[in-house]
Amino acid sequence: MSTQIDHLLNETRRFAPKKKFVAQAVGTPELFEEAAADRLEFWANQARTLLHWDKPFTQTLDWSNPPFAKWFADGELNVAYNCLDRHVEAGNGERVALLWEGENGDERRVTYAEMTDEVKRLANVLTDLGIVQGDRVAIYMPMIPEAIAAMLAVARLGAIHSVVFGGFSADSLRSRIDDAGAKVVITADGGYRKGKVSALKPAVDLALADHNGMGEQGTVEHVIVVKRGGNEVEWTEGRDLWWHDVVPAASNVHQYEAFPSENPLFILYTSGTTGKPKGILHTSGGYLTQATFTNRVAHDLHPETDVFWCTADIGWVTGHTYVTYAPLSNGATQVMYEGTPDTPHPGRWWDIIQKYGVTTLYAAPTAIRSFMKTGRKIPKQYDLSSLRLLGSVGEPINPEAWMWYRKVIGGKKTPIIDTWWQTETGAMMISVLPGVAETKPGSAQVPIPGISLDVVDEQGEHVGNGNGGLLVSTEPWPAMLRGIWGDPDRFVETYWEKFADKGYYFAGDGARLDEDGDVWLLGRVDDVMNVSGHRLSTTEIESALVANEAVAEAAVVGAADETTGQAVAAFVIIKESYLAEHSIEGLAQELRLWVGEQIGPIARPRDVYIVEELPKTRSGKIMRRLLKDVAEGREVGDTTTLADTSVMSVISAQVR
Ligand code: WTA
Repeated sequence: MSTQIDHLLNETRRFAPKKKFVAQAVGTPELFEEAAADRLEFWANQARTLLHWDKPFTQTLDWSNPPFAKWFADGELNVAYNCLDRHVEAGNGERVALLWEGENGDERRVTYAEMTDEVKRLANVLTDLGIVQGDRVAIYMPMIPEAIAAMLAVARLGAIHSVVFGGFSADSLRSRIDDAGAKVVITADGGYRKGKVSALKPAVDLALADHNGMGEQGTVEHVIVVKRGGNEVEWTEGRDLWWHDVVPAASNVHQYEAFPSENPLFILYTSGTTGKPKGILHTSGGYLTQATFTNRVAHDLHPETDVFWCTADIGWVTGHTYVTYAPLSNGATQVMYEGTPDTPHPGRWWDIIQKYGVTTLYAAPTAIRSFMKTGRKIPKQYDLSSLRLLGSVGEPINPEAWMWYRKVIGGKKTPIIDTWWQTETGAMMISVLPGVAETKPGSAQVPIPGISLDVVDEQGEHVGNGNGGLLVSTEPWPAMLRGIWGDPDRFVETYWEKFADKGYYFAGDGARLDEDGDVWLLGRVDDVMNVSGHRLSTTEIESALVANEAVAEAAVVGAADETTGQAVAAFVIIKESYLAEHSIEGLAQELRLWVGEQIGPIARPRDVYIVEELPKTRSGKIMRRLLKDVAEGREVGDTTTLADTSVMSVISAQVR
């Protein structure tokens, strides 16, 4: 059986950047030349010019014990100093770091000087609570400025944060606190979500109480609580501290210490699709270098004039890298929004862009497709002319969603960067530099300068242009994960064993190279379907469906089939404007034929199910294995990682 993934989609549209954009672009073709000439020297230069080192490094990469990399190992720096104090010292203390908007309409502008002050005070509080280098602090917070301050105060002390997404349950929080052995938890009473206060502190109490129930001594000694929701909370005297009691009372004088480049910075748990969450471990100097660099050259960041907005929650890696670390390290001004895109009205995001003059929007395809579902009328009511660059991250963006993003949100003028990376890679690995290349809707295109990737077959051989296979990283990169917390064997097995003889990192994604050698992501390899011996990618068939003007969103799976091995089953969300005028049966039949015409009879779905929702994780990724259960008529498997656990019963009922 062929191990290649067949390529079906043919997308030929191209968009060159405008001359004006090219003239001011931060990322230039020379970066690719420099990186190609001497990759390590290139990264060493970035590290030296973009960051402040208290002790300069002399060694760039130590790869003597693969896959355990050390970058800039003998250098010393303080990550929080790099993100805050240095901008104040450079005279930019009055620059706004955060334009914060609460879901309930609250507003705060936080300058670099104010943020630095707050972080120093919190660092003093944490020191008083006994937090020292290497200790773990769990952060379980809404999207409020204190969440960023908490991350940076922990980093300032050389301690390690583990941010747990605020939508996770007490159980998930408990297992993450336990795995990391956190000493302190920083949380809030609650935060605004979907128009009401969603409580957080009770989940912390529950997560910690269970230890006592079992007669076990948990590791947590203190809980610091920000007052945000105003909801009633229970209080454990001696353990719990209000932020507003302890932080303002602490001194704003704090002398930072420099830590080695490889000092751990954070653990971030990724659930994966099965098994125990993996605590992905990132360290300091290499991570901050690649984060800062990619934010400059891919987001074309002009810190003095841009208003940057990455919409990700700090509970995900995108929030870590492109909300907390990169924009602040670059001294940028950014928007931070607490709530959901449709509260209190479906135009909330566009309202925020108009209000703050956002220049750069970095969002997930799942959000874009949900806006497509409700229609262009809503964004059209707002002035989005301040936008000059759009970005996408987290999933493949279908060409039609890309076109919609460009036309409706970007006013047909903004470049779009499609950025591929992972929690494990720490920062972007693939993206166009928007002033350098033409963009292609649906393709992430080229590795970032200094990053070495390939698409290979099962033997690890380059597939060649025009072919599909497995995406690998062939060389270590600065922001790469340094391991899985407490489980070095699992780190090696999960990412390095498949191509051990070549020393490649395998990301788990399928990709193809087009005739120009540009990369098109094809989805997770586990989701690839096998129809009559043809290996078909989920992404391409989904993109064909989304290309039909009636469709807002689609997910396909391979369902067991007696004749073809697997058959394509499609779950489709229809745009609201079409639902009223067409019958479900008619639409399903039309879409079946449509896919056949667009990409060939082999990909024609056996079943098309019109549904209202798709099962998604809390970070917006479609959980195809649950749809496979439905398509194969099985009982639906574990739904605990879904954002909305009721979705599957609705889908099952609709399918029946
Ligand atoms: C997927 C998010 C296609 C991919 C930063 C990857 C993408 C996983 C893209 C990592 C993209 C991310 N095009 N697929 N531009 N970006 N992915 O850890 O499957 O939440 O392996 O990191 O998301 O998800 P994670």
